[in-house]
Amino acid sequence: MSTPDTPTTIVLITGASRGMGARTAAELAATGATVFAGARRPEELTARLREAGTAGDIRPIALDVTKDASVAAAAAHIQGSVGALDVLINNAGVPGTWAPAADVGPDDFSQVLATNVLGPVRVTQVFLPLLRRGTHPRLVMVSSGMGSLTSQSTDAVYADIAHRPYPASKAAMNMLTVQYAKALPGIVVTAVDPGLTATEFTGGAGHSIAQGAEVIVSAALDTAGASGCFMDRHGITAW
Ligand SMILES: NC(=O)c1ccc[n+]([C@@H]2O[C@H](COP(=O)([O-])OP(=O)(O)OC[C@H]3O[C@@H](n4cnc5c(N)ncnc54)[C@H](OP(=O)(O)O)[C@@H]3O)[C@@H](O)[C@H]2O)c1
Repeated sequence: MSTPDTPTTIVLITGASRGMGARTAAELAATGATVFAGARRPEELTARLREAGTAGDIRPIALDVTKDASVAAAAAHIQGSVGALDVLINNAGVPGTWAPAADVGPDDFSQVLATNVLGPVRVTQVFLPLLRRGTHPRLVMVSSGMGSLTSQSTDAVYADIAHRPYPASKAAMNMLTVQYAKALPGIVVTAVDPGLTATEFTGGAGHSIAQGAEVIVSAALDTAGASGCFMDRHGITAW
């Protein structure tokens, strides 16, 4: 919890309406952080938080990562209300199609890349000035083991996952993480792999949402971590 001597940590997380985004927002708010919870339908999130009696300072905010105007309006709101951001978590993501490779074309890729790659680029670019004014600023990229070139080429679990938009989008996010880490020396940039997690994303397969959110929360709270790493909940993992 923050005390009069420790300033409140200000967080923005995208895709906080459900799944790991919602869980991460709640956990960070429970530590005393002020959490701007980005959602495409913030009024629904507000109603859900009220119904659940969620504690802490969670502030739903309209944010569609694919829309310039939405991202700009969210930044103007945060600028006006708190003036700086300590942690930006690019969490919003879509799975896209899992059709056989021969049936997957450019339109399938466009839809996934628009949210999973161009979304974080747009949000990061617009929020960078606020992040630069933050304390120990951190940029957390919610990636996936599916985006690991190492896992994709060596791990049997990934043997039949090829040429699909989602892994390609997360590989691109990993590269963005490395590039941002090099380009933004004052900011700790971390890619995280939550592992297969039982959200709507996976149709309920995988470990608990709390386990999935673990690495997102720890990266968000780690003010001393090295920049440019790929982490899962057990530690550093292979790109
Ligand atoms: N679940 C897994 O096994 C797993 C594993 C590794 C990585 N991940 C990654 O973890 C992140 C969270 O996934 P999850 O499993 O929690 O998924 P989820 O329950 O399906 O939630 C996805 C979130 O992204 C939001 N979203 C989608 N498109 C958006 C847009 N254009 N603008 C703003 N928000 C948007 C959704 O909002 P709406 O409610 O408006 O649709 C929702 O809040 C994703 O980046 C995913 O790739 C998931």
